[in-house]
Amino acid sequence: MRSVFLGPPGAGKGTQARQLAAEGLTKHVSTGDLLRAEVERGTPLGIKARQFMDQGKLVPDDLVFEILFGCLEQGGKPLRSFILDGFPRNRAQALELDRRLQALGQSLTRVINFKFSEEAAVGRLSSRLLCRQCQAAYNEATAPPKSNLSCDLCGGTLQRRPDDEPEVVRNRFQEYRNKSAELVKYYEQAGLLVNVDAEQPANNVTVQVRKLLFDGGGR
Ligand code: AP5
Repeated sequence: MRSVFLGPPGAGKGTQARQLAAEGLTKHVSTGDLLRAEVERGTPLGIKARQFMDQGKLVPDDLVFEILFGCLEQGGKPLRSFILDGFPRNRAQALELDRRLQALGQSLTRVINFKFSEEAAVGRLSSRLLCRQCQAAYNEATAPPKSNLSCDLCGGTLQRRPDDEPEVVRNRFQEYRNKSAELVKYYEQAGLLVNVDAEQPANNVTVQVRKLLFDGGGR
């Protein structure tokens, strides 16, 4: 199973991918998490990426390619199963992904499109908390941590993402519409796309996504 999770900010892509990875079903690869780790470490790549992330803009493709593609292999062998969360974000990234997978003798098996509105995103992201250490996502309204201050899984500190401010979320949404939404058609034409209503409660979404990927609904 080699899958892409497509969808606007706050749609729950990370929540669902993390859940399936925690069940041992697959590996979760998030370009947002990889970029935030570079920012946190203050690497040259992180310093460059941060200027774009803080404004809700896409990071240039070459920087994203640099951190992503090594993650699709382990010990010199291609990963057998993965979910790409937040990648690709534009046509050039989608074409590059196809090319790299082909070079590894692989292709995508499923793309899940998380359908979600801008108003819902602004609301959800205003109450998101993220673990600084393991990147687990919580939500003060819908999925609160047991303690306000620390992560249930690793005890790491919880914080708000700087790009979850309402005006930055709106910029991210605009960026999604302008650059990423065309991927819906791209993957539809490839026969890979399935839509999921991401405004349902998280557990319902998990049931649907698991079925689409693993219970014969996958390809
Ligand atoms: P990235 O981290 O990928 O952000 P995003 O795509 O905007 O998505 P989010 O992480 O905000 O949302 P999500 O869908 O994962 O939702 P989550 O599960 O956390 O990218 C950040 C930035 O990095 C970009 O703006 C860009 O600058 C850069 N970047 C990343 N990838 C790039 C690329 N490929 N190219 C160029 N630049 C790139 O859930 C959100 C909240 O809702 C949580 O609090 C959660 O608990 C809650 N929740 C989840 N599901 C539900 C539900 N069903 N019901 C109620 N609450 C729910």
